[in-house]
Amino acid sequence: MRLYLDSADLSNLLPLLETGVFYGVTTNPLVLRESRVPLSSLGNFAKAVLAQGAKEVYFQTWGEKPQELLERGRKLAHLDERVVVKLPATREGLSAAAGLHKEGIKICITAVYTPFQVLLASAVGAAYVAPYLGRINDSGRDGYAIVSKMAQALAHTKSSTEILAASIRSSADLVTLAQDGIRCITFPTRIAERLFAEPMTLEATQAFEQAAQEVAK
Ligand code: G3P
Repeated sequence: MRLYLDSADLSNLLPLLETGVFYGVTTNPLVLRESRVPLSSLGNFAKAVLAQGAKEVYFQTWGEKPQELLERGRKLAHLDERVVVKLPATREGLSAAAGLHKEGIKICITAVYTPFQVLLASAVGAAYVAPYLGRINDSGRDGYAIVSKMAQALAHTKSSTEILAASIRSSADLVTLAQDGIRCITFPTRIAERLFAEPMTLEATQAFEQAAQEVAK
């Protein structure tokens, strides 16, 4: 299971990464803007999260033309070999992704909403494809069924492209996705914090500690 933190807020990210539970960090321009992280500091951001144990860090390229997306994606990839470059599932994004893949750069096709888009991601050699579960559900469709269909399509074509489910709105989403074999999921740090706060576990642990203190005397 690879759990990722979808955030650019180091004050929240670093303590969570220190637990060793989380595989990586994903960002996009919205997440960077929310935490006021300038593009000029992505190198230091990558250093900080990788030093704290992240094995991958995702940065999304930008631009209207494939060449812009490709050149900026190449620069992002060169920040560290553990950087994964995100590109939108548009004609331009997929075209730039095909070029970056040829250069040996790890890519993730993002902003995916429909099953056929995972086939396009697989066709350009994407390591990951990121369906936006929450936003698919927001649109009134059954996001779980759609992501499940995506997973089946990739599995049955023996694709090496992995689903990295995104736009997660609750810890329940993680289990529903895992039941369909989705093993890469990225979610906000507020959801990550809740994973360690199961009240009955905390209560039981407090009782263990109390008892241990007593028998340790
Ligand atoms: O990684 C995509 C994620 O940041 C979007 O999440 O909840 O804004 O749809 P959300």
